[in-house]
Amino acid sequence: MTDKLIIYYSSTGYNQRVANLIAQKTGADIFEVQPVKEYDKNMWAAWDVAKKEREDNNLPALKTGYPDMSKYKQVFLGGPSWGFTVSNPLQSFLKMANFAGNDVYPWVTYYDHDEQYLADLKRQLHNGQVHDLLELTMGTLNNQNQLEQTIDHWLTQI
Ligand SMILES: Cc1cc2nc3c(=O)[nH]c(=O)nc-3n(C[C@H](O)[C@H](O)[C@H](O)COP(=O)(O)O)c2cc1C
Repeated sequence: MTDKLIIYYSSTGYNQRVANLIAQKTGADIFEVQPVKEYDKNMWAAWDVAKKEREDNNLPALKTGYPDMSKYKQVFLGGPSWGFTVSNPLQSFLKMANFAGNDVYPWVTYYDHDEQYLADLKRQLHNGQVHDLLELTMGTLNNQNQLEQTIDHWLTQI
């Protein structure tokens, strides 16, 4: 049994790839956060919906529930930057989840803006110890060698 868990949200597959790589390298269990209603794969169409949800304070319902995180020591927590910050489905997850006793290692994927990500994540995450943020740009994500090296280096520091 592993004491490591990966929790991630991915709309277009990048974070899924990152989660699978971390799992391969660590043997961690994986939990995918999935909203009831998927977002459009087109970024701007998705942003229209996500922005409105934020304005209305109406975060998406999730169809996946919550894992028992008390079984784990290390939690890798990843997802995309949406509007400079945590994606709406992960925000929904953070509202309900209890990270008591967990060391949380966050990562984010983005093009060029994630300025508010770590501060917002720390504010929204209940009880866990949040470590430094691994930032993965599209340039890194689209270069398999660079991606693996970056993840390997990150894991050696944990
Ligand atoms: C609704 C939405 C908002 C986004 N906002 C940002 C942003 O503020 N800054 C940025 O660099 N990328 C932004 N992006 C690009 C995503 O970060 C990128 O598509 C994501 O990291 C890909 O991960 P995924 O394939 O796992 O969904 C946004 C994408 C979507 C769908």
